[in-house]
Amino acid sequence: MKGIILAGGAGTRLYPLTKAISKQMLPIYDKPMIYYPLATLMQSGIRDILVISTPRDIGSYKKLLGNGNRLGISISYEVQNEPKGIADAFIVGRDFIGSSSVALILGDNVFYGEKMDNVLQRSVKTEDGATVFGYYVEEPSSYGVVEFDEEHRVVSIEEKPSYPKSNYAVPGLYFYDNEVVDIALNIKPSHRNELEITDVNKVYMEKEKLKVEILNEGISWFDTGTYHGLLDAANFVETIQKQQRIYIACIEEIAYKKRYIDKEQLLELANSMIKTEYGQYLRYIIER
Ligand code: G1P
Repeated sequence: MKGIILAGGAGTRLYPLTKAISKQMLPIYDKPMIYYPLATLMQSGIRDILVISTPRDIGSYKKLLGNGNRLGISISYEVQNEPKGIADAFIVGRDFIGSSSVALILGDNVFYGEKMDNVLQRSVKTEDGATVFGYYVEEPSSYGVVEFDEEHRVVSIEEKPSYPKSNYAVPGLYFYDNEVVDIALNIKPSHRNELEITDVNKVYMEKEKLKVEILNEGISWFDTGTYHGLLDAANFVETIQKQQRIYIACIEEIAYKKRYIDKEQLLELANSMIKTEYGQYLRYIIER
């Protein structure tokens, strides 16, 4: 399976923070936001990753992440010329996807939890149909909302409904078979003139090929596209890292643990930022 990180959009919900820089470049505590979705894809075992961003911002991501070599993965880049919606990622990325299955993660979504590993290992095996998630929230109206029956079969899925049929928001992490490219090519833009990911999921639902997994116990999800989300996530990351001495979204550590890079390579990465607690943490991993 291949992976796409969508780091586009104008980030207007975070103005003026994002007037001159890309949202997914903003810090969540000690790392740029995009490290978090990148870590999630890497944790899934995905090594071939496409970053999609705007013409203005794509250069910054290339500078930050390079070709992925230093992490033992491959990172390539495509430009989304206009904010045409999340599902447009499959059209922009269709050469990259080729005949593969594909995971899509939104660049502002942060996931954390011990159980997340198992969820990802299962989902990455999606070869036929789609796997999405449901996360209980008090106010679901600003998200995609999924309603399901007792057997977790999806009954309805709606984008930002005024009257949500359930409290389960659909986080921005999706696993699809290769058909997603054709589906994205065939859906029509919504009233806000975007290709909605929810419309893609509806097609899978109608074919009875949409699986929803509930993410709740022991898993935290943050949509960091608002001031609140951004600060909540940053506070959360700081607390966990300080109290548990476990780093969240430490892409270098994941690469090392998955044996994409060896001790020597990790040491080099650690030394390149040894003045920071982040660099020192990488040294600590090698030495412990
Ligand atoms: C998007 C999707 C929505 C999803 C959300 C998760 O909304 O359209 O279905 O629940 O991401 O972060 P946006 O944040 O772009 O408004």
